[in-house]
Amino acid sequence: MRSYRLEGSGGTECLVMRDAPPPTPKPREIVVRVRATSLNRRDTMILNGTYPLTPRQGIVPLSDGAGEIIAIGDDVSRFAVGDRVTGSYFARWIDGRINAGLIDQLGCTLDGMLSEYAVLDEQWAVRLPDHLDWHEAATLTCAGVTAWNAVTGAGIPKPGQWVLVIGSGGVALFALQFARLLGCRVVAVTSRGEKIDRLRTFGADFVVSSTDTPEWGATVRDQTGGIDLVVETGGPATFAQSLIASTLYGHIVLLTLQDAQGRSIQMPAALYQRSLATISRLFVGSRVNLEAMLRAVSTHRLKPVVDKVFAFAEAAEAYRYFQQGDVFGKVVIDGA
Ligand SMILES: NC(=O)c1ccc[n+]([C@@H]2O[C@H](COP(=O)([O-])OP(=O)(O)OC[C@H]3O[C@@H](n4cnc5c(N)ncnc54)[C@H](OP(=O)(O)O)[C@@H]3O)[C@@H](O)[C@H]2O)c1
Repeated sequence: MRSYRLEGSGGTECLVMRDAPPPTPKPREIVVRVRATSLNRRDTMILNGTYPLTPRQGIVPLSDGAGEIIAIGDDVSRFAVGDRVTGSYFARWIDGRINAGLIDQLGCTLDGMLSEYAVLDEQWAVRLPDHLDWHEAATLTCAGVTAWNAVTGAGIPKPGQWVLVIGSGGVALFALQFARLLGCRVVAVTSRGEKIDRLRTFGADFVVSSTDTPEWGATVRDQTGGIDLVVETGGPATFAQSLIASTLYGHIVLLTLQDAQGRSIQMPAALYQRSLATISRLFVGSRVNLEAMLRAVSTHRLKPVVDKVFAFAEAAEAYRYFQQGDVFGKVVIDGA
């Protein structure tokens, strides 16, 4: 079995391919033949040694992956051989609120998906919708659940209300799609003017270029009457503009606190004292959240947006491509 492992931290040179005998499942485990995986911002932070949760040395990276079950342990009751599955980000967090005992993450403290086979406890996996191909199915565990919980977790916006998404990465595009499912109107902010038409095609009602209009908050507020829900993935570069764009009782789901240079978000008192906006946080989500999102994805036959697919042997190149930041949707790595 070929697996990538993270040996040390500091860059793609720490991503090492290792061979091992094929796995045999313990009584409550499933063995998944991984068909595709995908990258999230946290995976580059884990690679570079800047992720807040310390990864286990030699870990198989990536939380997101999809494949079919090829073997099950004697006591497995949730799945059968042949089922198509993906893993749950906080593998042990089934439902309710997270706590310190539930923080193990696939691809960080538990072996993840960048491997020919993944061995998962049966409680750590969920069945996939039939309409998704392997590349699409491999994108949902982190960005999908995060966007789902940002849009539906802390007060679901009503049809016709405005949702703001920032950039064109995995979380932003899932949030755009989920907001449209709820009947909301969507503003997208992008730093790259050439993405404006594509964001419109994917359902954004109004797109602003932050390069042409650095003070876009007031523009967005004027155009919409105020944003009801911001999915704040931009962090220090965008937080103040998100606050300006928000309606008086708006809601900002703050997903990013720092940028790649380590700068933190600033709370501009002069702006916030004129606002009654609620600022909330979340950490991806539980297995029950993943299952709820997948029901919506299945019902609406929603297709995740895939930017580019790399071969298994090109995993380091996929990391480098993703890291440079100019993506539209998810960066996927094919199975071995
Ligand atoms: N709290 C949580 O649970 C949670 C969960 C998942 C993700 N997050 C955070 O949410 C953010 C988005 O995650 P993601 O996986 O969707 O990220 P991503 O795929 O890396 O998003 C990249 C997008 O951000 C924009 N961007 C602008 N300047 C950038 C730069 N210098 N480097 C990288 N991207 C740049 C680009 O959009 P344009 O070209 O259109 O400007 C790009 O397409 C990340 O900060 C991540 O850490 C938090």
